Amino acid sequence: MQVVIADSAAEVGRIAAAKVASVIRHRPEAVLGLATGSSPLAIYADLADRVRSGRLRVDAVRAFALDEYVGLPLEHPESYHSVIRTVVTEPVGLTPELVNVPDGSAADLDAAADAYERAIRDAGGVDVQILGIGANGHIGFNEPTSSFASRTRIKTLAPQTRADNARFFASPDEVPTHCVTQGLGTILDARQLVLVATGASKADAVHAMVEGPLSSMCPGSALQLHPHAMVVVDEAAAARLELADYYRYTHANRPAWQRFEDEELS
Ligand code: F6R
Repeated sequence: MQVVIADSAAEVGRIAAAKVASVIRHRPEAVLGLATGSSPLAIYADLADRVRSGRLRVDAVRAFALDEYVGLPLEHPESYHSVIRTVVTEPVGLTPELVNVPDGSAADLDAAADAYERAIRDAGGVDVQILGIGANGHIGFNEPTSSFASRTRIKTLAPQTRADNARFFASPDEVPTHCVTQGLGTILDARQLVLVATGASKADAVHAMVEGPLSSMCPGSALQLHPHAMVVVDEAAAARLELADYYRYTHANRPAWQRFEDEELS
């Protein structure tokens, strides 16, 4: 796992966006995996800047969101269909027809989840998956004790996740209790993973994900199984990392051929 400790939340977004932009530059029809929530907003803002300034073209980019609430109408402002459109598709300028979000309103949710898995496979798989992490270690909405082999399916949101996401709703009771989420097995199939985390509330989860044992109690620890996982955190989210100095050292001494950022950040 490549761990990068950045000076600020903005820098976290810039470094992760540089990685994503580098994938798109090498493959204009790349398939992106999209996370929602606060953590990746800086990535999307940075990608939007690159597109606006003509440094990046995204017309052919395809995308699959990680998850969707069950029971929220698609047009609800907090459905991930709406959120992905307003924070990613429109500002970055993705082609709307090429952006997919799981269907949380389907009459047959199991069939819709299977169809989503097929659609990802038919697209050739995800080239780079953007991820955040919950304070309880979830990625996507794979809550603690999710199977490392899980595929897209219905999950019950943990009470902590509902409480954390209540900030987006008028009242905590309005946060749905269920979601459809890509599984940990689905996420691990992506060719590259880029996870971002900022703030002190993520420090325990980041420590468990990077340095804790491989355990379904911290679903993020599944990243330890992936050969191309990059974790970008700010100082506050890095506060509990035991090997923080080693990660700084390895980042400062990365050989030139691994330093995509130099090319992309300039
Ligand atoms: C949502 C998702 C979640 C979030 C996580 C962190 O699509 O994938 O795993 O990344 O809940 O959310 P924020 O970034 O709002 O703290």
